[in-house]
Amino acid sequence: PVNLYGELRKNSMGVNFSNDNELKTMADAVNANAGPWNAGPLVPGATASGPTVQVTNPADRRQTVGSYVSADTTTVDKALSNAVRAQFGWDRLPAASRAAILEHAAEQLEAHRGEFIALCVREAGKSLPDAIAEIREAADFLRYYATMARRLFGQPEQLPGPTGETNQLFLNGRGVFVCISPWNFPLAIFLGQVSAALAAGNAVIAKPAEQTSLIGHLAVQLLHAAGVPTDVLQYLPGDGATVGAALTKDPRVSGVAFTGSTDTAWAINRALAARNAPIAALIAETGGQNAMIADSSALPEQIVKDVIASAFQSAGQRCSAARVLFVQEDIADKVCAMLTGAMAELKVGDPGQLSTDVGPVIDEDALKILVDHAARMDKEAKKIGEVALDPAITSHGTFFAPRAYEIPSLATLTREVFGPVLHVIRWKGSELTQVVEQINATGYGLTLGIHSRINDTVDYIASHARVGNCYVNRNQIGAVVGVQPFGGENLSGTGPKAGGPHYLLRFAGERTLTINT
Ligand code: SER
Repeated sequence: PVNLYGELRKNSMGVNFSNDNELKTMADAVNANAGPWNAGPLVPGATASGPTVQVTNPADRRQTVGSYVSADTTTVDKALSNAVRAQFGWDRLPAASRAAILEHAAEQLEAHRGEFIALCVREAGKSLPDAIAEIREAADFLRYYATMARRLFGQPEQLPGPTGETNQLFLNGRGVFVCISPWNFPLAIFLGQVSAALAAGNAVIAKPAEQTSLIGHLAVQLLHAAGVPTDVLQYLPGDGATVGAALTKDPRVSGVAFTGSTDTAWAINRALAARNAPIAALIAETGGQNAMIADSSALPEQIVKDVIASAFQSAGQRCSAARVLFVQEDIADKVCAMLTGAMAELKVGDPGQLSTDVGPVIDEDALKILVDHAARMDKEAKKIGEVALDPAITSHGTFFAPRAYEIPSLATLTREVFGPVLHVIRWKGSELTQVVEQINATGYGLTLGIHSRINDTVDYIASHARVGNCYVNRNQIGAVVGVQPFGGENLSGTGPKAGGPHYLLRFAGERTLTINT
C-alpha cells in the first residue's frame, strides 16, 4: 500500500497457514529452540548487578526457560551516563542511515524468527499463531518507523521568508528516551517503542516487562547486530520499583514511552513531573474497558465469531480485547445461546500446538485476579459459558478457563479485567444513546466494536464514542501497523498512535534555522 506520503511499504508476510511445510518449520523451530536463555543488563562498562530471576514457562511451571540478572541502581546510573554521551552522535547520523539499520534488523528478525517464535511461546505463553503475528508486527514497526524517519527527518522543511532570508525547520532527537514495555506484546511493542525512539535520533534505554525479559534481551541483541551502537541502545531488565523508578526520576531522561496499566502511567507521570529537570515527553498506552455494541440488524453468527476472537484470543491479554458485549435484547437470547456453543469448541492448552485456541495467562498474580473476579461474578452475575480445562494438560501452568457472564450494567465492572472474561449486557433499541454514554463514562477510550447493518446507527456510535480504534462488523483486535494506527484516548493513553504517521513526532524536538543571506 501507498502510505500518507506516497511511499511504498509492505507489511511483513508472516507464515502461510495453508502451507503445511511452513507450519511444520515453525512448529519444529519451537521444539528446536528449548533454551535455556540467559540475560543480563547490556550496559557498556557496567559490572554491578542485582538479583537473578528464574523464568518459568507459563504453560508448565516445572520448565525453566532461563534466567536473567536484574540491573541495580549503579547499572541504571551508568546506562544513563552512557546514553547522554552517545545520543548526539546518533542524532547526527543521517536519518537514512538509522533507517537502514532498522530495516536490516527487520530482515534479520524474519530470517531468525524461529528462535523468537519459540521464546514468545515459552516465555510469554503465546499461542503459535499469536507468536507468528508478533514477529510480523515487530518487523512492520521496524520498517514503518524507518520509512517515517526518512520522510520526516531526512531533509529540513523549507519555510517561506522575506527576500534575502532562508528559513528551515529541522527535526531532531530529544535526548535519552526510556522505553518501558509490557509482557503481552513482548517483542512487537518492545521493538515498536525502541525503534521509534531510535529512528527519531534518541539514545534508548529499554526496560522490558519483568515477565518477558528474555525476549527483550534477544531483541536488543538483534538491533546491536544490525548496527545500533551498544551505548545508543542499552537494555536494563529488572523490576519497576527499582529500575523503572530509578529511570523515571532521573533528570537526564528526556522522554518515556510506556505501555502498561493506567496506574503505572500515572506513577511515571508523577515521577517525571517531580524532577527538577526539563519537562519530559510521556507517551503512554494504557488500559481499556472495551465494548462491542451489536444491534438486532447484525448477523448473530458474525457477532459471535468476532466477539469470541476479540475477547478470548491471546487469552484476552490484549489491551484491545473486548470485555463487554452490548447486545440488543431482540437477539440477545440467540446470541447468548450461540456464544455458549461456540465457547464449548474452544481448546485451552499448550500454546505450542496449532490446535490450541487459548494458552495460559502470564503469571500467578494475573491468574489470582481472574479467579477472584470469577468468584465475584459467580455470585453476582449469570454465567453464559465456561470453557472446560483438561487437567492433564493445564494443571502445571497458569491457565484460566475463558468465561462469559451476563451482567446488568457496566457499573458492575469497577476496573479492567485483563484476561479471557467476557461480560454481556442487554439493551433495548431505544437506549442506544445511553449505551454510548455508559461506555464513554468509563473514562477509557481504546477500542470499540460495532455490529450493525444500519448506517445511521454505525455513524451515530462511531461519531459519539470517544475511542481511539473503532471496528465495524469485524473483530476489534490485531491492529496492523500503518493500516490501523493504534492507541486510545482519555484513561487509555496519551497518543500519538503506534504504527501511525504522527508517532515519531512525539519522540522528536524541532529547531528552526534562519539565515539572512
Ligand atoms: N495492538 C494490539 C491489538 O490491536 C493490542 O495491543 O490487538
